[in-house]
Amino acid sequence: MTTCRICDKNFEPFISFGDMPIANGFLAEKDFSDEYFFGLATGFCEHCNMVQLIDQPAREMMFHDEYAFFSSLSSGMRNHFAEFAEKLQAEFLISDDPFAVEIGSNDGIMLKNIAQAGIRHLGVEPSANVAQVASDNGVNTISSFFDEALAAQIIADYGHADTITSANVICHIPYLHSVFAGIETLLKPTGVFIYEDPYLGDIVEKVSYDQIYDEHVFFFSVMSVSKLAAMHNMEVFDVEHLSTHGGSMRYYIAKKGSHPISENVARQLQKEQQLGLDQANTYDELRKRIEKSRTDLVAILEKIKAETGKPVVAYGATSKSTTVTNYCGIGPDLIDYICDTTPLKQGKFSPGSHIPVKPYEDFLADYPDYTLLFAWNHSKEIMAKEEGYNKHGGKWIVYVPEVKIT
Ligand code: SAH
Ligand code: TMP
Ligand code: ZN
Repeated sequence: MTTCRICDKNFEPFISFGDMPIANGFLAEKDFSDEYFFGLATGFCEHCNMVQLIDQPAREMMFHDEYAFFSSLSSGMRNHFAEFAEKLQAEFLISDDPFAVEIGSNDGIMLKNIAQAGIRHLGVEPSANVAQVASDNGVNTISSFFDEALAAQIIADYGHADTITSANVICHIPYLHSVFAGIETLLKPTGVFIYEDPYLGDIVEKVSYDQIYDEHVFFFSVMSVSKLAAMHNMEVFDVEHLSTHGGSMRYYIAKKGSHPISENVARQLQKEQQLGLDQANTYDELRKRIEKSRTDLVAILEKIKAETGKPVVAYGATSKSTTVTNYCGIGPDLIDYICDTTPLKQGKFSPGSHIPVKPYEDFLADYPDYTLLFAWNHSKEIMAKEEGYNKHGGKWIVYVPEVKIT
């Protein structure tokens, strides 16, 4: 029995993935014996509809000065945030001297567009190494965790905000009541809080269980976010489904009554009801589909090894893949190496499963017969980049929405 972080009622897990390491904890061989593990399990609270982790490691174990995820490495995401910055400027940063705050600004991927437009801004980014990259790029950044106390400090130092934005961050923060209370006080009376995160509806539809790892403590829906916002005198006034990160939802939130409510909100709530996102049996079904996905993926990899003996390489040492390799028991016996463009990950080993991570150039030099697509959420960008591999006859193994070789 676990107490819900949002409504304080009790709920049970619907799936346990077993012992898991820190998803972004790429490590050297000398550190294998000290590796940290925790039990990864997820539950659905019937009372407030929030899907959430049962336990989460301490935040300092995940976000620190060696954080391995640099947002700007993906050109698709650079374009995504440049477009979003334009929208923000056109629709919401329109007062005389607008002020834009970003929570979890990482290397400045979004805010550098706002900085370049000469707009007052502040990035809040606890992982000091990525925050430094943003500062070096001219983005005003403080290296802190956002919460209610920090919001008060920002008001004292800068005044109230026209926009507070956040992408792929709010789902990381367990103390959401402090965050939402801070946002409510930091916003101007007509200010907006716009955030996006991987969407529960997509996870259920596509069985993309690899979105579940230590950093992601919440899996949001319009239902659960509406209830949470109401607890802080705010409301969701618009929503927008996005294709990023395998399917995300962007929530537009403001103080109650300050913005007209778009029809998109009721439409999406209706879709969520049809999908059964408020029903416990939806999550029991999901567990069965996740178990099948594991069986199918392991069977394909074992078959390739047994029948061809050829190397199988994985593409993208993603945080998501930590759940896949550890839950499915996929190690160096089934995957020869993972290629990745992030220098910090290269030469290290994947968390828990200890598969070597090698530079992307190794993949280009080897062109293996089979490549397991861990970075499936960037597949459009990757397929455009890898025409040479496809022409060479290389085959992709994918597991979302179903396990298959393409
Ligand atoms: N917004 C970027 C980064 C997402 S990665 C993008 O969409 O690509 C998640 C980021 O949230 C990390 O950089 C992490 O350091 C940051 N983070 C985690 N907890 C936070 C908190 N309490 N306040 C602000 N940022 C946080
Ligand atoms: P993400 O799924 O958490 O965004 O992480 C993507 C990881 O994949 C990151 O380590 C960078 C890597 N990657 C590549 O190696 N090549 C690519 O073309 C892309 C898009 C990502
Ligand atoms: Zn609850």
